[in-house]
Amino acid sequence: MKYSYVSHLYCPKCSSTYDTKAQHQLCTCGAPLLVDYDLEGAGKVLSPEQLKHRKADLWRYHELLPVEDENNVVSLGEGMTPLVPLYRLARDMAVDHLYIKDEGLVPTGTFKARGAAVGVSKAKELGVEELAMPTNGNAGAAWALYAARAGMKSTIVMPEDAPEITRNEVAISGADLYLVNGLISDAGKIVGRAVKEYGLYDASTLKEPYRIEGKKTMGLEIAEQLGFKMPDVILYPTGGGVGLIGIHKALKELKVLGWVEGDLPRLVAVQATGCAPIVRAWEEGKRESEFWNDSETKAFGINVPKALGDFLVLDALYETNGCAVAVDDEVMLKEQERLARLEGSFVCPEGAAAFAAARRLKETEWIKEGETVVVLNTGAGIKYPDTVDIQPERLEKEAAIDK
Ligand SMILES: Cc1ncc(COP(=O)(O)O)c(C=O)c1O
Ligand SMILES: [Zn+2]
Repeated sequence: MKYSYVSHLYCPKCSSTYDTKAQHQLCTCGAPLLVDYDLEGAGKVLSPEQLKHRKADLWRYHELLPVEDENNVVSLGEGMTPLVPLYRLARDMAVDHLYIKDEGLVPTGTFKARGAAVGVSKAKELGVEELAMPTNGNAGAAWALYAARAGMKSTIVMPEDAPEITRNEVAISGADLYLVNGLISDAGKIVGRAVKEYGLYDASTLKEPYRIEGKKTMGLEIAEQLGFKMPDVILYPTGGGVGLIGIHKALKELKVLGWVEGDLPRLVAVQATGCAPIVRAWEEGKRESEFWNDSETKAFGINVPKALGDFLVLDALYETNGCAVAVDDEVMLKEQERLARLEGSFVCPEGAAAFAAARRLKETEWIKEGETVVVLNTGAGIKYPDTVDIQPERLEKEAAIDK
């Protein structure tokens, strides 16, 4: 039996196809490449029932992932994160069925480990010895550590304002780390030059086709955890948009397999008001976004002024009757506190933005009564210690607590 039913790569813009045995980056037309599978073949050997007996990590879906030889799998135990009902917050927002898909529990503390696990594994299979990538921090941390696990070298470039902990994660992995006085788009240009000069494998968002397959597993897991019944709405904090594109792709593949029925969930791209190119494009009914000047937000992972896959994100929103919402930093941080107080869940600012968007969409009745809503918390709050500003009372050793 085959480990993977991957068939080929294809371009969503010009329909060119490529094989999965050689290293490919973008299509010759400049668009990102997507991975296709022999789903008919996979459906003959895999069923929801069989999944129940598999290990609780994302490799449980290996037939639907691109790594062809199991020996190339590079894993730290990522995936199968909990889908937890939030009863108090649901009541507070007047949403009937509210779940958090908590990605704070994967290695490196963000969902980026999924993309890194699958991306690095496939890179290993393709004989890559050194990769390079620009990052807003979390992806670089994940890729540097998974590269170390694979025995591969990496070069990571991030904005100097990126969360400090992510620098440490990259540095301790032994990767070459560079900080740029600019945005991820500036880091991307520097990586582009290094890739050309030194022949490195470009692991930039969507410039290699396999990261998205790792992120796809969030969609596979949500469906499986709900007993292969789809939720009504999924909210996702969107920067490069890979997670949202991946979830959309997963649900479409599950439909082809016949494991889910009915309409796909309405997908919601959540951004910060300080960087909302997808929201602007969606509001204007456009198919592509425009570069967002002087972007700024505390939710650093979604500070992406122009995403290479913006057209795929917008397609996912239009196809599923979804929408795009921008949230102020102040509102997202209030929501972060509410989640901790009501549910004991310390989410990252990006995740908090998605919860704030759910609240807004219920207020405006875009989310309706009786609906099931899944919010992606893409990372652990503990990766962003600076977002919480506290002044605890200091006590002398002999002091008593005065309540
Ligand atoms: C915590 C967090 N959430 C969300 C995102 C956005 O991810 P995507 O590229 O899938 O839109 C990032 C990206 O850096 C992130 O670090
Ligand atoms: Zn093309």
